[in-house]
Amino acid sequence: MIRIAIQKSGRLNEDSLQILKDCGISIDNGKDQLKAASGNFPLEVFYLRNGDIPQYLRDGVVDVAIIGENVLIEKGEDIEIAEKLGFSKCKVSLAVPKDVAYNGVQDFEGKRIATSYPNTVQNYLKEKDVNADLHIITGSVEIAPNIGLADAICDIVSSGSTLFKNNLKEVEVMLKSEAVLAVSPKISKECREILKQIQFRIQSVLQARH
Ligand code: PRP
Ligand code: MG
Repeated sequence: MIRIAIQKSGRLNEDSLQILKDCGISIDNGKDQLKAASGNFPLEVFYLRNGDIPQYLRDGVVDVAIIGENVLIEKGEDIEIAEKLGFSKCKVSLAVPKDVAYNGVQDFEGKRIATSYPNTVQNYLKEKDVNADLHIITGSVEIAPNIGLADAICDIVSSGSTLFKNNLKEVEVMLKSEAVLAVSPKISKECREILKQIQFRIQSVLQARH
């Protein structure tokens, strides 16, 4: 039996369940259960919080996970990616208030940046030799400049509508991301074999979607 983590709620949840379904793996779940089993494949689903998934993989509490590449870049650079899944595409970007003139990344020197992606921002700015003051918040990041908490933000940009609604403009794209199938370093040989079957099915599904 392979244990797979997927996002409990949020943008990846539905598409993650859909790809399993398209792979012919049916999940029998009551809505509020945090765990569910497949009726036709040796697989168990755990519904978890995005940010916790890298640690669960590392600990071997789950064997594989469907997760945003951006989360692995932030919290799990050591974790193996078996497949890119082609959905939940997004960017992780820096944004500033719309009416602020922007001349380049050096403008962030000494500025306060609100973000849920401190490692990603830190690495990006360090490479450009820029020092900023990071404020770590876990959600609703785009509100920070409007309430005087920060001069800029770094967060996920998908449609761009959250930036727009908060009078912000994207000025630096730090990375591009999509959902991936990630693998625990502690996966057993047996589960590795089951994973191979899943990968084989996923590859066919992705090919057909093209
Ligand atoms: C996510 C992300 C951005 C927004 C990007 O927030 O943190 O704020 O979506 O999507 P968009 O470009 O299509 O607007 P979410 O709605 O998940 O809420 P949260 O930040 O409070 O968790
Ligand atoms: Mg948000």
